[in-house]
Amino acid sequence: MTTRIIIHGGIKEFENVQATEAEYVRALGDIVRNSHQILKQDGARAAVLAAVVALEDRELFNAGTGSRIQADGEIRMSASLMDGYHNIFSGVINIQYVKNPILVAARLSQEKHSVLAGDLATRYARSHGFQSHNPFTEHRLREHMSGYQGLSATVGAVALDDVGQLFAATSTGGTGGETPGRVSDSATVAGNYACDQVAISCTGIGENIVSLSVAPRVATRRLEGLGLQQAVRKTIEEGVRYGYHFGLIALDQNGDCCIDQTQGKTLFAEASEQGVRTFT
Ligand code: GLY
Repeated sequence: MTTRIIIHGGIKEFENVQATEAEYVRALGDIVRNSHQILKQDGARAAVLAAVVALEDRELFNAGTGSRIQADGEIRMSASLMDGYHNIFSGVINIQYVKNPILVAARLSQEKHSVLAGDLATRYARSHGFQSHNPFTEHRLREHMSGYQGLSATVGAVALDDVGQLFAATSTGGTGGETPGRVSDSATVAGNYACDQVAISCTGIGENIVSLSVAPRVATRRLEGLGLQQAVRKTIEEGVRYGYHFGLIALDQNGDCCIDQTQGKTLFAEASEQGVRTFT
């Protein structure tokens, strides 16, 4: 059976950094190459977690270290993991001062109550060994001081392993300048969903993604028999009709993949037995 992983680093036009496309290509290419090795050795869960940890750790991306800063000067991060094989969603909403929100989301997949929010998510992380970590960077502080009110960028990964398991993982620092307490799509099924047939991770404006229920809409269409490209395109076209801004990566049980967006350019890379491909 084929193995495949796709990762994304948001939509280029929603980023406000001076980074070049070459820097994104290099970062995403390195991460997807390493994550594909992990996929072959340890399966889809390990691979999506490794990919999102690496994306959270790179300041280039709006997740983990280098997350955007909210209106009150704080960083609050959201992340989720969806196990499509066992049908388990877990996530953290507005967690603070942890290095890798996605690993807290993964730890929560073992719990009866698998989505936690705010201070109590942070407290849960501390009580399960996640050390305090400062996610602020010089770049984001400058961006915040300039009064930046952002669109939204996200990171994510979807993977299919050689026993047919599909996983999706997504993480974000939010829009920047948002009202404290805002809930991102990234720790909801609208923005991060997988089942036994398809896995989807979204990026873009969370309110748009939630309002259209993007990932479950794609999954339902795929489950009801549409090809992956059609299931995604139909959903993107609905988003365009509402003037929404989002993109997504999707991967199905056959190993078919699709990357699409309502506008702009999704920053992605994918790896399979055929090699590595990036968004350029
Ligand atoms: N898509 C991430 C967010 O809107 O927060």
